[in-house]
Amino acid sequence: MIKIDVKGCQSFVDAAKYESYVNKALDAFDTLDSEKGAGNDFLGWKHLPSEVPASMLEDIDNICKDWKSRGVDLVIAIGIGGSYLGAKCVIEALSHNFAKQLKHADAPEVVFAGNNLSEDYLAELMDLAAERNVACIVISKSGTTTEPAVAFRIVKQYIEERYGKQEAAVRIVAITDAKKGALKTLSTQEGYKTFVVPDNVGGRFSVLTPVGLLPIAAAGLDVKGLLAGALEAEKALAVKSATNPAVVYAAIRNLLHSEYGKSTEILVNYNPKLTYVAEWWKQLYGESEGKDGKGIFPASVNNTADLHSMGQFIQEGSRVMFETVLHVEKAQRSVVIGSDDQNLDQLNFLAGKHVEHCNHMAELGTVLAHIDGGVPQIQIALEKIDAFNLGSLLYFFEFACGVSAYTLGVNPFNQPGVEAYKKNMFALLEKPGYEEASKAIKQRL
Ligand code: PA5
Repeated sequence: MIKIDVKGCQSFVDAAKYESYVNKALDAFDTLDSEKGAGNDFLGWKHLPSEVPASMLEDIDNICKDWKSRGVDLVIAIGIGGSYLGAKCVIEALSHNFAKQLKHADAPEVVFAGNNLSEDYLAELMDLAAERNVACIVISKSGTTTEPAVAFRIVKQYIEERYGKQEAAVRIVAITDAKKGALKTLSTQEGYKTFVVPDNVGGRFSVLTPVGLLPIAAAGLDVKGLLAGALEAEKALAVKSATNPAVVYAAIRNLLHSEYGKSTEILVNYNPKLTYVAEWWKQLYGESEGKDGKGIFPASVNNTADLHSMGQFIQEGSRVMFETVLHVEKAQRSVVIGSDDQNLDQLNFLAGKHVEHCNHMAELGTVLAHIDGGVPQIQIALEKIDAFNLGSLLYFFEFACGVSAYTLGVNPFNQPGVEAYKKNMFALLEKPGYEEASKAIKQRL
């Protein structure tokens, strides 16, 4: 289970005020636990780890085996937002850093589409598809989101032309609503295997449904380990207490924001494999809390690289932020720094030391420097980057997000603001039904 440490905030906050925010977070915990708060029809994610159907895991496994028997070596996963970032973050975190360059892949490469509207991206994706043996997972809860729908039109046509319609039906799997939506209708028509995004699970909380699990399994990664870690977190976080990590996280971040003007939270990592955990976290917290004129702006840095870019601002720029550092206790691999006779780089003092030791000292040095620079520090520690610990971390962030958003006083489970750009885009694209909006928007140009 992950651990949280807020000692790096102590010098910035008043202890009595912290206690009062712990009490607010405990009330918010009750709201989430009793399932009586705003958005309570979207709480299906809470028990996903303990209620995962064995038949669903079997179906996922069978698809992976079937694709393997067909020689599939490229899976195009189409989706955006919550239908993309969970799988992307787990695949990046659990894959070899150079998986694409290594010659001996024992599982297909999973690439993503439908998360942008770039013509070049899609054209280049088709260049890749032409060299590979292709399958596709199309993910859209609503089944009508423009970006994945555009990408799927192109990929579907490509697969049908190349393999024929019958073979396409086993190379395409859809993950969508149980009953409604364009993708559901199409899947029924074409005979695609489908998985359901449960009605009571919103996109950004869906990583432990087939939305995340099928692409993760297709990449050959340990889905059961991920769920086991999430289950451990589900059990641990269900216990109401002032030391529950979700309560502590919700309390400290709301305190820093509401009482001390810290309006930006930077999620910091010291391992490139965690880059997309931050992207997933930004969506989770950004869409869940950023509404009604409220919320902490979620940002991220990838250190030590970003210490040589954003580091200057974080150390000395406007004092609006606090940091949450993802501390990884153990590296999975071992690389020891050697001795050099000439010692021109003057690094012999490090001879015999593990690279991860240097990484930890860089992290500790940065934490202390940033405290000195006026940036409060939260630490979230995980033992290592493996499926179990990652599952635990993802569930922790989801649960803590519910507690934190209720502490802030917003509905964590809606995202009304996402509609505004869509309306404008449809008006500009002259979608049927948007005639009035089209006229109005063109007058603004
Ligand atoms: O968290 C969310 O609900 C959103 O990010 C959605 O996942 C995203 O907009 C994609 O929606 P859909 O799965 O309906 O295509």
